[in-house]
Formats: sequence, structure tokens, C-alpha cells
Amino acid sequence: MIREMLESDIDAVLEIEEDCFVDAWNYNHFVYEIMFNPYSSVWVLENEENEIVGYVDLWMMFERAEIANIAIRKDQQGKGFGLMLMQHIEQLAREGMCETISLEVRVSNKNAINLYKKCGFEIINVKKGYYRWHGVSEDGYFMMKGI
Ligand SMILES: CC(C)(COP(=O)(O)OP(=O)(O)OC[C@H]1O[C@@H](n2cnc3c(N)ncnc32)[C@H](O)[C@@H]1OP(=O)(O)O)[C@@H](O)C(=O)NCCC(=O)NCCS
Repeated sequence: MIREMLESDIDAVLEIEEDCFVDAWNYNHFVYEIMFNPYSSVWVLENEENEIVGYVDLWMMFERAEIANIAIRKDQQGKGFGLMLMQHIEQLAREGMCETISLEVRVSNKNAINLYKKCGFEIINVKKGYYRWHGVSEDGYFMMKGI
């Protein structure tokens, strides 16, 4: 089941976030996205045991939508959950009258790039040194899809 993320979900989401990203968002960042960011729409995906197995944060800014964050719990990856969240947010963006959805992804993140290509996203350009963390930088692909 996909439902809107609540503040009470943050601890479970943080476990996934910290497992997936070196530059993980913190508690307050999720609070901001859920409660204060006027453009964000944050969703969690639950399995049959009501455990959170993934989440996605979509920003809808008039004609543009942007995927700010998406992750699936490591032991649940490769089971189609990422695709389910992508289909969900694409539907939301359509209903919100957005014309494009875009995102940035590390050039090394093959799994995510494959997922986005499967969903119809194209690489538009490379953002040099887009990801910077403790002195290490990596390029990011800017990807987009018209909807
Ligand atoms: C990227 C991510 C969200 C994909 O979610 P997922 O649930 O594992 O993906 P799905 O099972 O829905 O797979 C959908 C498609 O993604 C791609 N994909 C997913 N896992 C893959 C893998 N291990 N190897 C290659 N492609 C993969 C494939 O195109 C796949 O389609 P296919 O099964 O027909 O080949 C997940 O791997 C994740 O959370 N990664 C860590 C966080 C992250 O990198 N987020 C994106 C930041 S930009």
C-alpha cells in the first residue's frame, strides 16, 4: 500500500535513508518535507506486514515536478517496489498538471539509472561535481521525462 508519509514514519524511513545514502537526510529534513515544504509530496510504501519498505518525495512546482528522494529498503530491492513508487508519482504529477518530471542521479548509480530509463526518462546532461561529500565529488546525470 502506498500512503502519505507521517511524522511518525520518520524513524523507519531514516533507517532506510541512512542505509542507502552516504549523504543521508536527517530527521529535521524529513520534518520539513512533510510539514513545511509547500511543494513536496512524500509517500511511503508498506508491505503486507505494515512495514515501510520504501518512500519517495516528489516536488510539484507548477509545470515542473522533481523527484527529490526515492529509496527502497536494501533487502526489498529488485522486487518491483521502486517501479511502483515511480508509477505513483507519475500519476500524481499528471493530476497536478505538471508537464515534466526531472531528477538528478549519481553517474555510478546503475540500478537507479536503469529504473529511470525503464520509466521513460532520458539523460539530458551531466552536472559536473553535483554530488560533494567530505571532499569526494561525483558527477550527476540530469534526467527528465515529459508527461
Ligand atoms: C534505485 C531503487 C529505488 C530501485 O528500486 P527497486 O525496487 O530495487 O527497483 P525495481 O525492483 O522496481 O526495478 C525496476 C527497474 O529498476 C532497474 N533495477 C533495479 N534493480 C536493479 C539491479 N540490481 N540491477 C540493474 N537494474 C536494476 C531495472 O531496470 C528494473 O527493471 P527490470 O526488473 O525489468 O530489469 C533502489 O535500488 C534503491 O533504493 N536504491 C538506493 C537508493 C537510491 O539510489 N535511490 C535513487 C537516488 S537518485
